[in-house]
Amino acid sequence: MPRIAVLARTVVDQIAAGEVVERPASVVKELVENSLDAGASTIDIAVDDGGRARIRVADDGIGMERDDAMLALERHATSKIHEANDLVGVLSFGFRGEALPAIASVSELEVETASADGAGTVIRVVGGEIGEARDAARRRGTTITVSRLFFNAPSRQPFLRSARSEWRGISEVVTALALTRRDVRLSVVHDGKQVVSLPPAPSLQSRLAGLWGAPFAERLVPVDDVQGAIHVSGLIERPADVGTSGRRLFLTVNGRAVRDHGIVRAAEQAYRSTVPAGARPTLCLDVIVPADLVDVNVHPMKAEVRFRDRWVVERAVEHAVRHALGGSASAATMGSRAWMTPGSFAQPAAVDVEVLAPVTPADDGLLATTTAEYYAAGDASFTPAPIDVPPLVQLARTYLMFEGEGGVVLIDQHSAHERILYERFMRTLEHGDTPSQRLLFPMTLHLGPAEGEAFEAHQELFARLGFEIEGFGGHTLIVSSVPMPHPRFDAPRCLRETLDALSGDRTAGVATRHERLAATLACKAAIKAGDILSPGEMRALFTALASTTLPAHDVHGRSTIVQLPWDEIERRFGRR
Ligand SMILES: Nc1ncnc2c1ncn2[C@@H]1O[C@H](COP(=O)(O)OP(=O)(O)O)[C@@H](O)[C@H]1O
Ligand SMILES: [Mg+2]
Repeated sequence: MPRIAVLARTVVDQIAAGEVVERPASVVKELVENSLDAGASTIDIAVDDGGRARIRVADDGIGMERDDAMLALERHATSKIHEANDLVGVLSFGFRGEALPAIASVSELEVETASADGAGTVIRVVGGEIGEARDAARRRGTTITVSRLFFNAPSRQPFLRSARSEWRGISEVVTALALTRRDVRLSVVHDGKQVVSLPPAPSLQSRLAGLWGAPFAERLVPVDDVQGAIHVSGLIERPADVGTSGRRLFLTVNGRAVRDHGIVRAAEQAYRSTVPAGARPTLCLDVIVPADLVDVNVHPMKAEVRFRDRWVVERAVEHAVRHALGGSASAATMGSRAWMTPGSFAQPAAVDVEVLAPVTPADDGLLATTTAEYYAAGDASFTPAPIDVPPLVQLARTYLMFEGEGGVVLIDQHSAHERILYERFMRTLEHGDTPSQRLLFPMTLHLGPAEGEAFEAHQELFARLGFEIEGFGGHTLIVSSVPMPHPRFDAPRCLRETLDALSGDRTAGVATRHERLAATLACKAAIKAGDILSPGEMRALFTALASTTLPAHDVHGRSTIVQLPWDEIERRFGRR
């Protein structure tokens, strides 16, 4: 007997099935992708027992002629590419021509299809054995039913998990497809019960609302940004909401759902200083890059992409997310809906500027120098845009309140000042020095051993921030200059508390040394809740906050701004 034989076709198909058909979810994915490739606008999915007993996908796509349907069940029959060259830049989902035969080799598969209303074809395949084609009257489109998955592959059956777990896999696949192709009507029936029914959606937000409910979708912040040839759009979680429920991740590159840790990490990077280290935001992002800069043919399940220049793509994503978080739409809100459009924090309701008292220099003391000078210290090219400051009221010696375009806005004075100082300290640490003031009488600080060590470790950074401090043997410090954030700045207390916080490991996480120091110092140096502010100080605080990159978020993952939209107020007063 010859030792080498050409493998029978069904065996080859079964081997291929090992790659393509891992679980019921992968069958659903292949079938739905075929329907989408066939131009379907409605897809109905039905599964029984987590897909283990039966999976049926019905579409209204172009259907198949009888000969084509027969061919499609043969290995490597595909209508989507004809030669190797066609592989470059393929836009359809499938192109290997192996899914149908692979699935058919390990199940009972029935294809019912018609390329025009009326005369159609039914073909049954049992364990890879293709039966006779029969006539069937049906509307244009294709229905594929896969029953008894792995009935003839005993080695695979033990790998099927519980119906619940397989069902979870299927719903993940359907969710990703529903989000990728929002133009398609989609329904899912599980064990005879309708679980998903999605009309075509005009936007990502309305699709998300259909999947996870309107309250969830409405709390997300829109992203829309172009960097060079890269377009990043989508919806992301507000920092104030991060961690309150499980994170959801969804990412497409050029319209294809993919997994990409690099992009997710870049987006998370953009949340730095708005959420605690390690917090995981919900992200739904669509990334469009020129087709010649990506290779989608990397993974057999096509879930990964390879970028020609990954760094550029990741920076574009980080920039887009950062930009979205910088807008006021990302501010916390009472009620579900945000009303502030990105950037509208700086455009409050129109007010008659005449009625506002001019800011006197003494009043402006909260920020030591004018906003312009204060930023120029870090970056000469930066001048904050002049903004209209609305009338501000201080509430409970803690919050500033004003009327915005779409509702009432509250600012937490401590959190806001913290954000302002944090960004100022970061600029100073990274770009240059800050104005500091010599003390008339140098002050002496006696530190414990841990605080002393913390000081030594950060000595050079303190100097850069404008502290002039000399060690004086043991752990005694002589402080002769301090930066001047505001007249209420209590330098010894601020220094002591900062060193105390830095000596513990309390702020440890992914933050850099600069970020830790800037955040700690900002927290200790900022005005506190309970400090009464003059009108000029409130205005200075407002102006400076509007000039920060992330005005709506403090440095601990809390909000600096809370918005109360008119429609929420009207709802509570029963006006709508
Ligand atoms: N739902 C469908 N509607 C129309 N044609 C289909 C459908 N499913 C499969 N086909 C045809 O069968 C062929 C083989 O499908 P498949 O094995 O998944 O390979 P591929 O999708 O890689 O081409 C497809 O190229 C297509 O021509
Ligand atoms: Mg396919």
